[in-house]
Amino acid sequence: MSLLTFFATFVFTAAIRLVGANNGGWDIGHATFYGDMNAGETMEGACGYGDLFKQGYGLETAALSTVLFNSGATCGACFEIQCFDDPRWCAPGSITVTATNFCPPNASKPNDAGGWCNVPLKHFDLSMPMFVKLTKDYHAGIVPVQFRRVACVKQGGIRFEIKGNRWWLLVLVFNVAGAGDVKAVSVMGESTGWVAMKRNWGQNWQAAGNFQGQSLSFSVTASDGRTVRSHNVSPASWQFGQTFDGSSQF
Ligand SMILES: *[C@@H]1O[C@H](CO)[C@@H](O)[C@H](O)[C@H]1NC(C)=O
Repeated sequence: MSLLTFFATFVFTAAIRLVGANNGGWDIGHATFYGDMNAGETMEGACGYGDLFKQGYGLETAALSTVLFNSGATCGACFEIQCFDDPRWCAPGSITVTATNFCPPNASKPNDAGGWCNVPLKHFDLSMPMFVKLTKDYHAGIVPVQFRRVACVKQGGIRFEIKGNRWWLLVLVFNVAGAGDVKAVSVMGESTGWVAMKRNWGQNWQAAGNFQGQSLSFSVTASDGRTVRSHNVSPASWQFGQTFDGSSQF
């Protein structure tokens, strides 16, 4: 490569970056839907949230393709999505959804014929009631979208569902506002210091040890680096299967 070619390439790449930075953070992808107008996801998805209605996420959720899902790191993040550049199918307006599930790739389907969630596609699989807000006619089946990360708006504090057994603690962290996607969690019992938890799957975090009989506090760090501490979230008499509202929020 000559120096001139190199320089031209450099300027061109920089220009693309600049355009990218000036589009309000919008990126390009596609969206489809699953189920019918009544269907939400009540099954435990790949983020491990469990019953999305009980947990307050409702139908405003999406399953993300591999590159967006990022092995579960994106679970809990919120996206604003609008149909883009397709006058035949696009309705005006936008929706906001929380990432709660994984849309698996399918190696036996081409990317443009059902393999929507294959690498490297950026794809959202939506509940039908959300999809119909994007398009004039759901028969479109699949629509081009533009999307961007937005702050999650949640009511109440960060919530903690306590699972596991007497050898280890497993905690689902949900209803997280702000960045939404949690990247680190620590737990503290009355007779322990802060113990770093490991991501087990999705937004389920685990720590070895017996924390029974101790009031629990949690420290939650989101992808934007901010940390919120929720002290004495549970009474000492907590039981596996119970959920507690941390009252603190981003
Ligand atoms: C992938 O697509 C093929 C062909 O349509 C289908 O038979 C198969 O069940 C799909 N696999 C998954 C994991 O969805």
